[in-house]
Amino acid sequence: MEIKITRTDAPKALPESSTLGFGKIFTDHMFVADYSKSEGWHDYRIIPYGNMSVSPACTAFHYGTEIFEGLKAYRTADGSVQLFRPLENARRMNRSADRLCMPQFPEEDFVEAITTLVKLDEAWVPSDPGTSLYIRPFMIGNDETLGVHAVDHATFVIILSPVGSYYKEGLNPVSIMIEDQDVRAVRGGTGEAKCGGNYAASNRAGDRAEKKGYSQVLWLDGVERKYIEEVGAMNVMFKINGTVVTPKLTGSILPGITRKSIIEILKKEGYPVEERLLSVEELAGAMADGSLEEAWGCGTAAVVSPIGELVYKDQVYTVNEGKIGELTQHLYDTLTAIQWGKSEDTFGWTLKI
Ligand code: PLP
Ligand code: COI
Repeated sequence: MEIKITRTDAPKALPESSTLGFGKIFTDHMFVADYSKSEGWHDYRIIPYGNMSVSPACTAFHYGTEIFEGLKAYRTADGSVQLFRPLENARRMNRSADRLCMPQFPEEDFVEAITTLVKLDEAWVPSDPGTSLYIRPFMIGNDETLGVHAVDHATFVIILSPVGSYYKEGLNPVSIMIEDQDVRAVRGGTGEAKCGGNYAASNRAGDRAEKKGYSQVLWLDGVERKYIEEVGAMNVMFKINGTVVTPKLTGSILPGITRKSIIEILKKEGYPVEERLLSVEELAGAMADGSLEEAWGCGTAAVVSPIGELVYKDQVYTVNEGKIGELTQHLYDTLTAIQWGKSEDTFGWTLKI
């Protein structure tokens, strides 16, 4: 794999850790590759981060031919940098590509492109506790046509953003509203693909929730509006009567890599875990009778995010007195210790760059 590198001649000043937030600051370079049906993927290049020129007729603008991924590079105590399960992201992007009839990007090239780009912008990987370099690979359909069809031309890009915590609350419990009007996805739709359209569809409910003072919405299934699915930018888990329950992957939920990793950690530790349908009535019952002991969201951006309050049909339920639960804290500590290289990675999940 050959990548042509053009370095910026105007490097930016590195940001202060305290100003990071999530996804507002971008590094000096980006990776770009082009695809056409006749040539395949070609022109692998790293160029200075900046605006892109695409046709106003390109299908990404009109028909939502866009898929993306999210992973992080972590600065470890010895000053080196490592990625967390990048091959999982490569595989998931290709499953999303398959769903939207977009081209497959070779998995090994995906990982090598990220590694090369992160190495070049390595100084941007922050080192303060809780900070990391968020990596956002994405692909757009680039056919210059208003016809609706499978993608014959595409562009794949990777941008990098040094980040702090996703929620302004950090590791403090967030309030989540269970959404019973809009739906995010349906089985057979694009829910399990990581495509921009899913997020556009969720904006209205998210905005409503925010105006009421909640961080995000918890989606119910789109067919019966009965079963718990996931939160706007993370999967969700509940500790009910000592067992961890998380919605099973029905096709309308994003198969999160953090979710998968936490399930593997819990199983290794001998903790009971159930991936199953969980109805909102069952959850409301568990909230009312106190058997819901803890609740948390999990995702790359959100890491492990305790849920302190759940609101359903204007009834407010407090989870674990609004405090982070013991298991939630344990999972945060265990996962982040692997990611930041503070404990031995017995799973083989990390990749040094
Ligand atoms: N669900 C949604 C809708 C997401 O956007 C994300 C974030 O990527 C997740 C779940 C968690 O996935 P992962 O753990 O792979 O980041
Ligand atoms: C991630 O956690 O990587 C995500 O993609 C969430 C994003 C929508 C902010």
